[in-house]
Amino acid sequence: METGWKAGLEDVIAARSAICQVDGVNGRLYYRGYEIGDLAGAVSFEDVTALLWNGELPDAAASGAFKARLEAARGLPPTVGQLLQTLPRDAHPLDALRTAVSLAATHDPDTRSNEPEANLRKALRLMNLVPETVAAWQRIRTGRTPAAAPAAASHAAYFLELLEGRAPSPEVARVMDLVLTLHADHELNASTFAARVGVATLTDLHAAIVAAVSTLKGPRHGGANEDVLAMLLEIGEPARAESYVEARMGARAGLSKQERGDPKVRMPGFGHRVYRVDDARARVLRGMAKSMAEATGRQKLFEVAERVYDAMRARTSLPVNVDFFSAVVYDALGIPPDFCTSIFAVGRVAGWLAHALEQYADNRLIRPRADYSGSAPRPLALQRRKTETSMASSLKS
Ligand code: COA
Repeated sequence: METGWKAGLEDVIAARSAICQVDGVNGRLYYRGYEIGDLAGAVSFEDVTALLWNGELPDAAASGAFKARLEAARGLPPTVGQLLQTLPRDAHPLDALRTAVSLAATHDPDTRSNEPEANLRKALRLMNLVPETVAAWQRIRTGRTPAAAPAAASHAAYFLELLEGRAPSPEVARVMDLVLTLHADHELNASTFAARVGVATLTDLHAAIVAAVSTLKGPRHGGANEDVLAMLLEIGEPARAESYVEARMGARAGLSKQERGDPKVRMPGFGHRVYRVDDARARVLRGMAKSMAEATGRQKLFEVAERVYDAMRARTSLPVNVDFFSAVVYDALGIPPDFCTSIFAVGRVAGWLAHALEQYADNRLIRPRADYSGSAPRPLALQRRKTETSMASSLKS
């Protein structure tokens, strides 16, 4: 019987959603009908979040009200701060984040309610919890104390000030705002799908976000930006880029399909399940990476990235994805490789929550089927007789 099974659910429509549209053929991305290139930098990340959650860009009054509610929900729960202090300093930032969100659920007064207003209150708290945890853990693991919650005007500036312990320049805050918007949503990417599957069981919102953070960590998904920055730093010199690409991609020849799946013989930041051409966000990030690298004296790393990009273009038709040039932007912001995916989470939590709220509002359990490939039904009695006989003979011998 033809089951229509597709490995990795490729091109399978698994939800109806009005939030985000990906045009993989033309490399375009829309949030609620607005093209990402039009939104990024022109609309604040807070307004983009309100757009994703509510369907329309807020007018001035609605924007002010949304920001006020978001600001009122700021503040790392003290228990989460205490928990972070107990983690091994080499714990991966996403492991710290996953654990923190899970702990926060046990203290949240609304955890047991999935009423729309309770979920909105939790969503606002989670929007802050993610950057607060990410910043606190970065400071703790580098031997600093978490910064006191500042009264920063924007979400991006709030995150940066928590991270650095001082107010960011307007330019850096603007870059972070843009980065968060570019990462805010991406249809049914793996972590968002994980969140929706969780919500569809009517588990609580924190639990769904734990599932999303856990899924984001993998190198096939958000973890790729960490691998990109590590790779670019390892290459180090623009002149080495081509031979590096040659060696890494060349190492795939003669490997089995299973072996070719190893991230070590893939180029992080390239390839995508949906895009056939360069990712719309990557185009914006490439320009940002250039200007940021120039402004911060990190041109060499940008040059390495450009050479890798050219070498890949010459070799394959794999599109570049969001994780490639964002890694250069992160480097210019002073962010180390294993912290890159955390920045992704600070932006993507807006999309996870949008999808979670949409799923709660019109829910049906997500429960697909498997294309069974195991043994045909077989009688147990015969099997047991055989086992008993072989046990008896092994006891005799
Ligand atoms: N480097 C080298 N080869 C790649 C590749 C990459 N980055 N991405 C895909 N391929 C190859 C695969 O090896 C496979 O060829 P093969 O069967 O001959 O080995 C073919 O392209 C299809 O790959 P597949 O894994 O089936 O595609 P997918 O749609 O399941 O995977 C990604 C999409 C994103 C997981 C994949 O492109 C990848 O691993 N990229 C690197 C990690 C990354 O940047 N992730 C962030 C995505 S935003």
